[in-house]
Amino acid sequence: MEGNHANFGSRMGAIFAAAGSAVGLGNIWRFPTEVGNNGGAAFILIYILCIVIVGIPIMVSEFVIGRHTQSNMIDGFRKLAPGKWWCIIGYQGVIVAFIILSYYIVVSGWTLYYSVESVAGSLTRNHKYDEYFQAFVSNPWMSILYAVIFMAIVHVVISRGVQKGIEKFSKVMMPMLLLIIGVLVVCAFSMPGIDDGLRFLLKPDFSKLTVSVVLSAMGQAFFSLSLAMGCMCTYASYFSPRTKLVSSAMSVAVIDTIVAVLSGFIIFPAVFSVPGVEADAGPGLVFITLPSVFNMAFQSIPILGYVFSSLFYILLFLAALTSAMSLHESVTAYVHESLGMSRRKASFLVAVSYMSLGVLCCLSFGPLRDCTVMGLTIFDVFDFVSSKVLLPLGGLLLVIFTGWYLDRNLVRDEITNHGTISSHVFGIFIFLVRWIVPAAIAVIFIRGIVEIL
Ligand code: PFF
Repeated sequence: MEGNHANFGSRMGAIFAAAGSAVGLGNIWRFPTEVGNNGGAAFILIYILCIVIVGIPIMVSEFVIGRHTQSNMIDGFRKLAPGKWWCIIGYQGVIVAFIILSYYIVVSGWTLYYSVESVAGSLTRNHKYDEYFQAFVSNPWMSILYAVIFMAIVHVVISRGVQKGIEKFSKVMMPMLLLIIGVLVVCAFSMPGIDDGLRFLLKPDFSKLTVSVVLSAMGQAFFSLSLAMGCMCTYASYFSPRTKLVSSAMSVAVIDTIVAVLSGFIIFPAVFSVPGVEADAGPGLVFITLPSVFNMAFQSIPILGYVFSSLFYILLFLAALTSAMSLHESVTAYVHESLGMSRRKASFLVAVSYMSLGVLCCLSFGPLRDCTVMGLTIFDVFDFVSSKVLLPLGGLLLVIFTGWYLDRNLVRDEITNHGTISSHVFGIFIFLVRWIVPAAIAVIFIRGIVEIL
């Protein structure tokens, strides 16, 4: 619609950028933690179902809105439903992006610290990982410093713009990330715990399944695919008219799921290689359990432990970076396009605002540790409210909008690229977003919340 709107230069660049948003700490840090807490393979199966039935249709909906309006999420809804209240979905998306990035940068800062420390060799020299981690996160200056450095890197990329910043960096970082994962999977297969690790990941125990496990799987699917917070909508506004929306969404979902499952293949064989270490070690799994696991698993060849842990934390850092870029872009695009501020200024303003909220999350591991709501720290409240409440709600409203409000011809035109590609998928898509996805989200959401309360 608007003539000089920024665009990705190539289809590959667009897919790498969207996959870069999806593949993040959610895949490598949050997914294995959820798998460990929720019983292994049964959780993975439910998760994959959520990706296919709920995740892909929502992603396609965001792509339709973003590419058609060539706008960030808020303006997209304003253009499609002028004067109506639907733009609330856009505002809620930008607010969730804000909440998520403010705690995301905290963990991202940890990944940066652990990358530096592992490359410097400190991780292989130290053996009291619990104390080591607690000392770092409870020191407000250190965790804020690393979060600020991380945010500064993201700001530099975003202020360079769509092609020179987001696309260029994604095209370099995503292949690097996939290569590192490949190397780590090969190493993991040579570990003694490989059989137990594979059994845990591949043999489902359905007795562990409860509604709240299903809600967790759905929340994880939303989080992992970066849905309902404007990222995919904003990135789709940079897609070319020839980009195939459904196949792009499927490519992103496949890459994202493969990375999540492979992260399990990297982490659990390592965990099961060391007697006495539990798979359900919680969020500390990656920062407390794993360093000692890496050390012990490679006790006879320490250099391998060093290489494995350095590569692993660099992987985490790169994944966090490409995701944080999209969260940052989601808000920057709005400030830049709608409030008429230059991209550089908008990006700076957004970075500073994110950081102010991020400081609270950093402090929730130290001085604000006892500041809790229903037993949850500020950090946990942000995670709970965003992934278990706001994301499902936003997703629900989004599919109702696409399925019931949007003009069917507009949706068909976007999905079939104005009739140039087959329209079979259109019928399936409309059926899913009208009936199946809203029903699935509503039932899982309501029952899950009742069970939690
Ligand atoms: N999908 C990212 C991950 O799995 O880590 C996290 C994320 C990025 C969530 C962007 C939301 C988002 F908008």
